[in-house]
Parts: sequence; C-alpha cells; structure tokens
Amino acid sequence: MPFDRIIRNGNVVTPGGTFVGDIGIVGEKIAALGTALDAAGADVIDATGHHVIPGVLDVHVHLELPFCGTVSADDYRTGTRAGARGGVTTVIDFAIPGADGSLSEAADTWMKKAEGKSLIDYTFHICITRYNEHKDQIAGMVKRGFTTFKEFMIYESEGWQSDDRALYGTLEKMKEHGAMLLVHAESSRVLDELIARHHTPELMKQHGAVLHAITRPNFIEAEAIQRVVQWSEATGGKLYIVHMSTAEGADIIRAAQGRGVPVLAETCVQYLVLDDSVFARDDGHLFACCPQLKKPADSERLWKGLKSGEVSVISTDTCTFTREQKAMWEGDWTKIPMGMPGLETLMPLTYTKGVLEGKLTLEEMCAKLSTNPARIMGLAPRKGSIAIGADADLAIIHPTRTHTVNPAEMESGADWSPFEGWELAGFARTTLSRGDVIVDDYRVVGKEGRGQWLPRTSAGLA
Ligand code: URP
Ligand code: ZN
Ligand code: ZN
Repeated sequence: MPFDRIIRNGNVVTPGGTFVGDIGIVGEKIAALGTALDAAGADVIDATGHHVIPGVLDVHVHLELPFCGTVSADDYRTGTRAGARGGVTTVIDFAIPGADGSLSEAADTWMKKAEGKSLIDYTFHICITRYNEHKDQIAGMVKRGFTTFKEFMIYESEGWQSDDRALYGTLEKMKEHGAMLLVHAESSRVLDELIARHHTPELMKQHGAVLHAITRPNFIEAEAIQRVVQWSEATGGKLYIVHMSTAEGADIIRAAQGRGVPVLAETCVQYLVLDDSVFARDDGHLFACCPQLKKPADSERLWKGLKSGEVSVISTDTCTFTREQKAMWEGDWTKIPMGMPGLETLMPLTYTKGVLEGKLTLEEMCAKLSTNPARIMGLAPRKGSIAIGADADLAIIHPTRTHTVNPAEMESGADWSPFEGWELAGFARTTLSRGDVIVDDYRVVGKEGRGQWLPRTSAGLA
C-alpha cells in the first residue's frame, strides 16, 4: 500500500503494546503499523530514539472565557498553538450560555471563537446554567452532536450555579439520552460563609493570597462530590467530576465506583505537581484557581488514584490570565481572576514528574492523557489511540531531552507560567494532527484555522 507519510523506527505506544517500528499514514488516517514499511513515494519522518505516542486530548480548557470581570487571555489561536507544542491534538472547551441565552446559542458562540483560529480539533461541553430553561434543550443538543454537559456547584455571581434540584434532574436527563454530566464540585454555602468570615482588612493584610487556601478546606470539595455522587447513584445518570483536587475526593470516587455508581473523575496536572505553599509567595495570587492547590498528601493520593484507576484522566483546566489581569486582586483574594495557563505543559509535566519519576508507566500516561479521555468523551476510536483507522494524531517526544520553561518563548498568551524555570522533558519534537505536521523541531508550523469541530454520539463508559 502506498503511504503518504511514514513515521519511521519510533518507540510506538499502542493499546496492544509498545513496539519499535513504523506507522504508515494515508491521508488523515493511520493505515498501517509494522516494521520496514515500504516508503516509496512517502514523506518519511525519522523517530529513531523517540517515543511516538497518541496525540493528547485536553478535555478541560477555557479559551477566551468571560470570567471574573475579564476575559481569559488564551484564545483558540494561542491556546491551541500552545497545546500543539505539548503534543495536544484535541481540546474540549465549555460553552457557557450568556444571560437569557440557550444551549444552542452557547454552542454557536463557542463555534465562532474556534472557527478560523483553532490549529487542532475541538468540541465543547455544554453548560447548563439555568436548569428550568435549559432542561428541555438537552435532547436537541445531543442530536446536534454534543453528548457532554456541565454544571457548576459554585459561581453564583457569574450566574452559572446549579442547585441540587438541577443536578438531580440533569442526571436523570443524562440517563435518558445516554449523555454524561460534568460537575465542578465545591460546596457553595459553606464556602460563602468561610469567605465572609475571613473577608476583613486585617486578615487580608495578614494572609494575602493564602486566604484562598484557608477558606477552602478539603471538606468543601469532598462534601460536594459526595452529594452529587449520591444523585448519580439515585438516578443512574453518568457523572464525571472535573478537576478533582483532594485525597478525600479520590476516596469517595473509589468507594462509589466499588458500589457500581457510574461516576468517573479527572484531576489536573497542577494538583499533582504543585501545592498550596505557593500562595505564601510574593506572587502567590498568580496561582489562584478553583478549586485551589492542596497539600502534598493530596497530590500523592491523586497519583495513587491514577495508578489504581479511580482517577481516569489528567487535564489542565487552562484558564489563562496575564500578570496584569491577576493584578486586579489588589490584595483581596476574592477578586483574583481564577485560573492558570496549562495547555503547553500538560504532557511535559506528566511525562517528567510522572513517567521519569516512576509514578506512571509511559503506557499509563498515554491512557490518562489520550485513550481514556477519548473513550470517556465519546471521541474513540477516532481519537486517543495509535490504531489502524484512527486519525493520525501523534506526538513524537525525546525520552530525556529537556527544555526550560520560559514564558517569553512560549506560545501561550500568558506572560508567566506556574512552572517558570522548571526543566521539563516531553515537549513535542513533532506533532501531527490528522496526518499534518503542525509542530516540527519543537516549533509550531501548522496553519491556524485548520482544526475541525468533532461531533459525538456517545459519552461515558458503557
Ligand atoms: O479557576 C478556574 N478553575 N477557572 C476556570 C473555571 C473553572 O472552575 O473551571
Ligand atoms: Zn471548575
Ligand atoms: Zn474549568
């Protein structure tokens, strides 16, 4: 069979095992796996001495999000270029309805943000922010190709908050339509109370950004996860906990899965490699995100959960704000725009801190960054694995070559990085998206706007 492109002699990670050999590509698809594939007429990319892994799916990003009185600084151009440099070939963002907006209008708005800008493929989770109005629009969105929905248990001031009635009712709808509900789980009323108790000039002067951690003890996340897991157990609706940050959360998910509750969980790489000691730094407010970074013991439990299975996915929750935007806080932690950049460093961090430090095997990393997210979000078998018939979405990484994280050289719209100065292996020497080389020799070469929307017909595990 004549191939358009051959990836030659790499250490190729497939669901069936890892082998040293070749990948043959015809058009946008993987057409053959083997050794010494016939290169007549093909463009050959030498991967000798490199790992060849499936393109990463970051299934939790916010690009150009109006939030906290500003708009997040990575849009589909900078965000997807940043992702490509870290081997990301698919992103899933969250389409959030505006005041009075329908679910369909939210999807249209996010389509416009992505079209003409996105370097890689994309789709959206659809956010239900006004249950009464939105509940009867769910069926239409599933027909339109959106199978994952999202509710926030906090963010009342943004107009995004869902109460228990909404969570319960939406989970019933998920069951009816074979869809899945993603939930930001934090316990809002107790959180509001703790914030109110600490929101004094004296305490803000004394603790600064550390108040972000003081006012969000672990039970804020644990109670909310426990409660929404209960609604999933009662309704049978598929549930996925986003950005889980606590050891208690991992314990609850493990116990629920043991009872057969259809719940899955993701964590974000920052919860694995950073802890809340950063808030005491002079620039500690930069690190504020919701939920906030926790203790080293939480990171350890989340790594363990990745290994033992109750944590299925690693994502970023990319929600970039520049130093200038973060300066809006002026000493009051409740005014910090919440979120951090992450797409560019997801895989390098997971590879360096996970694989090279022996916490995950290379194959387990590929499961958590590619294969699981694709299956869970209804994008398999097209995405997430190196397999015949799949899209030729690939990352070629050197096993040990490191780059220093330097915001001035990065693709992200951020002028800082939580990981500035870190030496990380795992940046993509080459990234392919549907057979196109979009990163070559560590530099982005792909054309913006080439990314495609990915319709879906399923979600969750069977
Ligand atoms: O701080 C964060 N995580 N910002 C983005 C919004 C969210 O809660 O995911
Ligand atoms: Zn969230
Ligand atoms: Zn988020």
